[in-house]
Amino acid sequence: MKGSVRTVVFPIAGLGTRFLPATKAITKEMLPVVDRPLIEYAVQEARSAGVERFVFVVSTQNDLVTKHFSAQPDLEKVLEQNGKFNELKSLQASTLDPESILYVIQDKPLGLGHAVLCARDVIDEEFFAVLLPDDLVLWDKPCLQQMVELHNKIESSILAVEQIDNENISSYGVINPNESSGNVYKVDGVVEKPKFEDAPSNLAAIGRYVLSKQIFSHLAKLNAGYGGEIQLTDAINSIASQQPVHALKFKGTRYDCGSKAGYIAANIAYARQDPTLMAKVEDILESD
Ligand code: G1P
Repeated sequence: MKGSVRTVVFPIAGLGTRFLPATKAITKEMLPVVDRPLIEYAVQEARSAGVERFVFVVSTQNDLVTKHFSAQPDLEKVLEQNGKFNELKSLQASTLDPESILYVIQDKPLGLGHAVLCARDVIDEEFFAVLLPDDLVLWDKPCLQQMVELHNKIESSILAVEQIDNENISSYGVINPNESSGNVYKVDGVVEKPKFEDAPSNLAAIGRYVLSKQIFSHLAKLNAGYGGEIQLTDAINSIASQQPVHALKFKGTRYDCGSKAGYIAANIAYARQDPTLMAKVEDILESD
């Protein structure tokens, strides 16, 4: 289909220092929210947007991701024999065709832009997605699906943005919006983690991007930016002067699972989707 997005890049080479010591033996995207690791929510979101190829940018060969998405026929048999069909369904839903998975190594922690650049040789299509599993978005229609639907209409690069309060705006890439139509903005530029007084707006990029493959030549030319790292934001800023970039104020609630508070909030929000589970959680909290 013209304009469609088939490949997603997951930059998951980070150290996960904010969750140490939990991240000594597992990587941070393997942290579970209720009963699924963050990376599985990310993969399911990409799948529902029509993505068929999954590129994991990792620091070393990441056996945990491989194991998580591989089929477990012995376990499936046990679940079937024991009549645990819901568990069987969840287990089967968490497998990926090994042929649809690719690994790319990012050997130095040089930033998000550098991580995306590492995937250059495996991206053939005009447009691809980047999804940061730390940002979990809860809504009936997954965030990336909302973005791909917009992309299929206007065929430009798309950033998902959210309105952020003044005291937190310096933690994000912030767009300089031009004209808007409903919840879609034309983007004139983006600034990585500006001081509040320099922020061009209160609309911040969250971890969802549909990008033109032209981004790679811009990334390759970049010097280190904010924090001494190669910033994806800087390459998007540079591309925005040459071709259309849009921002979508997506529908849904985002949980920053890179922070402990956001991670706990995500667990509660996901538990709420199961009324029986939530009733039990509420009972426990009330009895304290
Ligand atoms: C990264 C990006 C930033 C973006 C944010 C969204 O920052 O560099 O532009 O707003 O993700 O979560 P990080 O949170 O990795 O510092």
